[in-house]
Amino acid sequence: MSTSGADKPPSKPATRLVTGGRDSPSYYGFVNPPVYHASTVLHRTAADYLANRGRYSYGRRGTPTTEALTNALRELEGPSCAGVALVPSGLAAISVALLSSLRAGEHVLVTDSAYEPTRLFCDKVLSRYGISASYYDPLIGAGIAALMQPNTRAVFVESPGSLSFEMQDVPAIADAAHARGAVVLMDNTWATPLYFAALDKGVDLCIQAGTKYIGGHSDVMLGSISANRATWPRLHETVFTMGLCVGPDDVYLGLRGLRTLGVRLAHHQAAGLKVARWFAARPEILRVLHPALDGDPGHAIWKRDFTGACGLFSVVFKPVPERAVHAFLDALTLFGIGASWGGYESLVIPFDCTRVRTATTWAPGGPTVRFHVGLEDVDDLIADLERGFAAFAGAAKS
Ligand SMILES: Cc1ncc(COP(=O)(O)O)c(C=O)c1O
Repeated sequence: MSTSGADKPPSKPATRLVTGGRDSPSYYGFVNPPVYHASTVLHRTAADYLANRGRYSYGRRGTPTTEALTNALRELEGPSCAGVALVPSGLAAISVALLSSLRAGEHVLVTDSAYEPTRLFCDKVLSRYGISASYYDPLIGAGIAALMQPNTRAVFVESPGSLSFEMQDVPAIADAAHARGAVVLMDNTWATPLYFAALDKGVDLCIQAGTKYIGGHSDVMLGSISANRATWPRLHETVFTMGLCVGPDDVYLGLRGLRTLGVRLAHHQAAGLKVARWFAARPEILRVLHPALDGDPGHAIWKRDFTGACGLFSVVFKPVPERAVHAFLDALTLFGIGASWGGYESLVIPFDCTRVRTATTWAPGGPTVRFHVGLEDVDDLIADLERGFAAFAGAAKS
């Protein structure tokens, strides 16, 4: 966990990705920190031990490796960030941030577009501790004020939704929540702090599934929560007392991934937009769900609040039998079929939000598929998708 940041001249986020959390003199001049595999920290004397003297006290409470990552993330978030906690997955970041914000008898409003396990945690676990959750239309904006109950103490946003891509008016939701004494939690995994400065837009607790773009190589499970001054003490206490920590190799991989986040995201953004525009011109496609596209319903909010887009978006096929969509997916060789996203490789999954929604109706008009555009040559990816459409055409006819 981190609460400290070195005094450095102001710099742009891309620079902070490279310089944040670096302390080479402490590592004998080496660029990167060592990977401390550590539990016990030895003290020189009994008095030192009893007085808890020494920079580190126990592996679970932080090592130079974890501090390098939390300091780097904190510098990336900017001055509104009072501290960063590391946890073992993105879902753990969501559950711990919620636990730290709520107590028995209170209520949380969660966007209907949230990652499904976020809902499961609210419905199955928070409910056991006397905390109720209800779901709201992601497009509600300032209208969230009308849904606030006297005991609503938290509002959870995810923008854009990571399957359905609705953009939320985060500043308007935050104003309404704060006016009624609630904190705002955001799953900011799609944009990362590089493309959406959540803590500067009214978010109090900003969640990252570090498994995605921060790790960037599909080889790490990691989550982080960045807190502002108001929420950091409770978050720190919750993570500390629950005994949560991350294995040192995963922390190191997160730090290593963070250093190249800027160049990777720029490529994911450009390639993702090229593929999204290509899809938009295909006769088989009804709509492309990508907020950085001009005609997208969320484009105005994206343009106002975000500075970039990643490689994740969805498409809606014109109505066809399921076998045609499956033939398309099964014919792809560069797009792997699998959960998660944010690694260097392209991915694809079919999905259907109908079953999950409770506050809104999911009726996109046809079968839906989500793509993650990776770092392969984009023309090769488009050639792969063309092969998919050839198989699609054959299956649609049969
Ligand atoms: C938007 C979003 N948030 C959180 C998570 C959870 O992250 P993790 O898989 O690291 O638990 C995911 C995983 O797919 C996700 O898509």
